[in-house]
Amino acid sequence: MFQERIEFIQRKFGRLFSQDNEVIFFNPETPPHCLSLSSEKLVAYQTFFPVFDQLRAAGIKCVHSMSQQKYNTAIISIPKSKKLARHFIYLATKAVPEGLIIIDGDKNNGIESIIRDLKKETKLTNVVSKAHGKIAWFETPANLGKYKDVPLQIEGGFETQAGIFSSDGIDPASKLLMQVISKSLKGLGADLGGGWGYLSAKALETTCISELYFIEADLIALNKAKRNVCDERIKFYWCDALKWEAPVLLDFIIMNPPFHFLGQPMPSLGEDFIKVASRNLKKSGMLWMVANRHLPYEEAIQAHFSSFSEFPGSKRFKVIRAENPIKS
Ligand SMILES: C[S@@+](CC[C@H](N)C(=O)[O-])C[C@H]1O[C@@H](n2cnc3c(N)ncnc32)[C@H](O)[C@@H]1O
Repeated sequence: MFQERIEFIQRKFGRLFSQDNEVIFFNPETPPHCLSLSSEKLVAYQTFFPVFDQLRAAGIKCVHSMSQQKYNTAIISIPKSKKLARHFIYLATKAVPEGLIIIDGDKNNGIESIIRDLKKETKLTNVVSKAHGKIAWFETPANLGKYKDVPLQIEGGFETQAGIFSSDGIDPASKLLMQVISKSLKGLGADLGGGWGYLSAKALETTCISELYFIEADLIALNKAKRNVCDERIKFYWCDALKWEAPVLLDFIIMNPPFHFLGQPMPSLGEDFIKVASRNLKKSGMLWMVANRHLPYEEAIQAHFSSFSEFPGSKRFKVIRAENPIKS
């Protein structure tokens, strides 16, 4: 669906993507989305590592933070989080002080309400409906300071940000996991898909942990975790957990694995995380994980660990400890 709209953008604005025009593309999801725009000076802004990595491998220039550099045109592929979508629009107006901002989104991602709201704040040049979504564009300067996102303070003194996992409060599944394992972790471990840092913060309350690798793909979440977990035993890695290799085999891994990729359900991701855990644990190492009850992870656990047990969880979530990783 998106591809149809990007082709429309190329037909409509192709002349703007000429040699001298600097274009920034916020949140492109795949290399073809960038490559279909025949822009010689396109820069992709992406903070989710697996996509950043794919874009970079396809030869697309990528940034993961905003600098003072100015552009002539911005394209925004809006994410599901409305606050984050607005923040991207704000960033675009700063990066393009005098030029064109093009906003693209699926109806499923709430593009209609974004456009409705934007119309109250600035004059839109046009809005076009296409392929279950909409494309709107407007010219800058535009004063959209109110769209700038601010950090959120939540229970427990933690700081989060719109658009990251469980930004409004501690995830109940993660809370349950830490209630169950309490202070039973020791040695060298990792938090796979650590988010804004809740599991690590709780885990490091015990002095029995010598070092903890924190693995997270979402840079915004990882930057929050750096603020939430101030402990010299933690080492932060912005990377794809599926490709991560621990420098030495670990005593434990904790995780509340993802089962969505770019907003779409993908339960196989949780199974892949189980495989990564098995690969990176010592023979005596332990995986502690929590998951929604309906997610069928037991088969993957049995394929990668010789034994596992379920601990008393809740109606919605199960807590599992898996032991004796099977090395392939
Ligand atoms: C269900 S959340 C759990 C977050 C955190 N552990 C907590 O308990 O609040 C899963 C996390 O995995 C991250 N994630 C998704 N895919 C990833 C990948 N391929 N590599 C590393 N992290 C990933 C997501 O960004 C998200 O923060």
